[in-house]
Amino acid sequence: MPSLAQRLDAIEDLPTIPHTMQAVLSSLDSVSTSASRLEDIIKEDPSLTAKVLKIANSSYYGASQGISSLSRAIVTVGFEEVRSIVVGLSLSGIFCDDLGFEEFDAVDIWLHSIGVATCAKMIAKEVPDLDPDEMFTVGMLHDLGRILFCLYFAEELREVLNCMNSEGVSLAEAEEKCGLGHSDIGAHLAQRWQLSPMIVKVIRYHHNYNRAGEFTKAAAAINLADSLSILIKVGWAGLGPPQKTLIPKILGLDNTKVKKIAQKLQDQREELVSGWSNLIKT
Ligand SMILES: [Fe+2]
Ligand SMILES: [Fe+2]
Repeated sequence: MPSLAQRLDAIEDLPTIPHTMQAVLSSLDSVSTSASRLEDIIKEDPSLTAKVLKIANSSYYGASQGISSLSRAIVTVGFEEVRSIVVGLSLSGIFCDDLGFEEFDAVDIWLHSIGVATCAKMIAKEVPDLDPDEMFTVGMLHDLGRILFCLYFAEELREVLNCMNSEGVSLAEAEEKCGLGHSDIGAHLAQRWQLSPMIVKVIRYHHNYNRAGEFTKAAAAINLADSLSILIKVGWAGLGPPQKTLIPKILGLDNTKVKKIAQKLQDQREELVSGWSNLIKT
């Protein structure tokens, strides 16, 4: 039987990395990337430009005056923040509307990714050695494999869902039993897209963070952000029996701190969902 990697590689219409995402991510490591380079990348795409301006003017960023230029948007919203938004927006472009499963709605999954990204950024601000903007980006990408699972392995996914329902196990456990998981599928695509080893590993192990080696802390942060976003129902709210939110020890966060983060996400939930849903629909 061919391996998952072989099966994925055999799919001819596997999505290629969105051009803007590649441009923005390849500049992630270079300190020299300037605001003007970012502006140039965005400018190449008129609809992206319009969306960045729209989000800069949204109540979420609290802009009181009309922002009509990209350079102004970058100054007001912040360079890193705009870069993260571009990753989020370019990803929405490869999410087709109908995934063929009533359990998985594309917009809901995309909103879930925004929720996890936002929450992971909040967590990273409280945990030493984690870069908040990097965590936002990984949060955005963590469930990339869900989309591919629906689109390219529909039969197997049906099997996973049947197993989850008949055995009363979690979705992650059902995936494990069936030997095919969204984490591996997503990690494989991320690797193909030549994303950084950190991103690939965190995608692969976001449900098993202890196995993420040097990136355990980052994977643990995404794991916690995932649980909190599902609990607070930012977009897709999970399937199967409700899971307990466990705080990974490695993050060194106590209950009070996590509750504060959860409250903050809860407070921003409505603005996040309405702001970003509007963007996808335009
Ligand atoms: Fe996941
Ligand atoms: Fe997730």
